[in-house]
Amino acid sequence: MTQSENIYISRIRNKHVRKRDDEYPFTIPVIRNLKEFSFDKSVTYIVGANGSGKSTLLEAIAVLLRLNPEGGSRNFNFKTVETHSLLFKDLVMSRADLTYKDAFFFRAESYYNVASEIDRLSEEDISLLKYYGGKSIHERSHGEGFMALINNRIRGKGIYIFDEPEAALSFDNQLAFLCWMKIAIQAGAQIIIATHSPVILSYPDACIYEIEDDNLKKKKYEETEIYRSTYSFILNRELYLHKMGLI
Ligand SMILES: Nc1ncnc2c1ncn2[C@@H]1O[C@H](COP(=O)(O)OP(=O)(O)OP(=O)(O)O)[C@@H](O)[C@H]1O
Ligand SMILES: [Mg+2]
Repeated sequence: MTQSENIYISRIRNKHVRKRDDEYPFTIPVIRNLKEFSFDKSVTYIVGANGSGKSTLLEAIAVLLRLNPEGGSRNFNFKTVETHSLLFKDLVMSRADLTYKDAFFFRAESYYNVASEIDRLSEEDISLLKYYGGKSIHERSHGEGFMALINNRIRGKGIYIFDEPEAALSFDNQLAFLCWMKIAIQAGAQIIIATHSPVILSYPDACIYEIEDDNLKKKKYEETEIYRSTYSFILNRELYLHKMGLI
């Protein structure tokens, strides 16, 4: 089945001019080298090692969409710590289609604060809770809360940004997340995800950018480090453990 792609954000260009004394975030090699990258599928993944710059990039995209850098929708104005970078000021976002109605930024590290903000907002407007399954996210486990959050967040055309959704999810719920993606895409969603999970990364016909040699490179699923390392580990677990001196 062929389906047209949902592309609201089509391109990001970095207009920063490199300087010798650049500070964070331009000290991060991939950000320093970034010129532009395009979105040409409903699903775009950004993968790479710890500290390679995925969250910095996603956060800047979220801020450009006027979302709270700590997570949530445009209505979420809470701020716990001022840590987000000023990268967004140097990024130029091209929008191919302005008809999207919803945008949400899910990030593992501030999920707790997002749940608290939903509680606070629903004290002001109890009807809001119906979007989150009828009860406080805090009254659910991490994974249950996350699934309630996304299952109640399919609102047609929208941009959904996820930073490590797997942090909350069991293997089965990672599969359920892939099914959520399909329903959301059919409803008109563009989805951007940073992940370390080979399961979350497996959505078919997606665009995968891997941070490699300090640049964003387009990869096929089977070419990614996540896929190759996980595959190799499962096949050679004892060899890995032996090499690390654990057995
Ligand atoms: N507020 C900050 N000030 C200075 N450096 C920072 C700040 N936040 C992050 N960094 C640095 O920027 C780099 C990229 O961090 P980032 O969080 O974007 O990585 P990541 O790819 O998301 O990693 P992970 O897979 O661990 O989530 C890291 O080296 C990190 O130490
Ligand atoms: Mg990160």
